[in-house]
Amino acid sequence: MKKISIAIDGYSSTGKSTLARQLARELGYIYIDTGAMYRAVTLFALREGLIGEEPDEPALEKRLAALEIGFERNDETGRSEVTLEGKNVEGEIRNLDVSRYVSQIAALGAVREKLVAQQQAMAAQGGVVMDGRDIGTVVLPEADLKIFMTASPEIRANRRYKELLDRGEQVRYEEVLQNVRDRDYIDSNREISPLRKAADAIEFDNSDMGMEEQFERIHAHALRVIDKK
Ligand code: DC
Repeated sequence: MKKISIAIDGYSSTGKSTLARQLARELGYIYIDTGAMYRAVTLFALREGLIGEEPDEPALEKRLAALEIGFERNDETGRSEVTLEGKNVEGEIRNLDVSRYVSQIAALGAVREKLVAQQQAMAAQGGVVMDGRDIGTVVLPEADLKIFMTASPEIRANRRYKELLDRGEQVRYEEVLQNVRDRDYIDSNREISPLRKAADAIEFDNSDMGMEEQFERIHAHALRVIDKK
């Protein structure tokens, strides 16, 4: 049976990564979290003092060629986790500090050029589920199945708020909601590869849909696409 490629795009905290990971596991495909790659570059820029009021684009651009972003498997959980210069940074890339700056870093042309090329190389053999903002439009325009996920900002902020509290972070709901709204705005209005639904993507609003139901529907759909190949 041919291995297809699946693109999952959408707003932040719509449950894209949970769905993509589950789908990849079920199909025996590779899961690639492209947001984690933008987050790893942001962590690098923060650590190296390359973000003041805003990112120092020329300085960051100089460092990008040699910057190593990758994934490694966590044998305990079976999940793939992002690495920066060979070190696992999965824990650090989800904090609010990285979340605050990641949209600005993801708007930089040099950053996108590097990461998109790497993502395309990783997907070249098919058998991938990739999630992000520009997968169906830019990274894998020929993907066999494209999903675009949405949910209301309040519902997404609430999910994210609970996640952060579970991880022991001290945050206020209003702060998380503002971060969700800010990222929506920057991600949708940036000049290069703004977040938008590909013409041939299927839209899923999961504001009122449980994860399980959503997974079952999309999994069934993926099987039909694979069947036709
Ligand atoms: O999915 P996430 O919240 O981890 O993504 C982090 C940021 O990276 C988000 O603000 C948008 C950006 N991003 C992007 O521009 N393109 C992608 N393919 C994935 C993420």
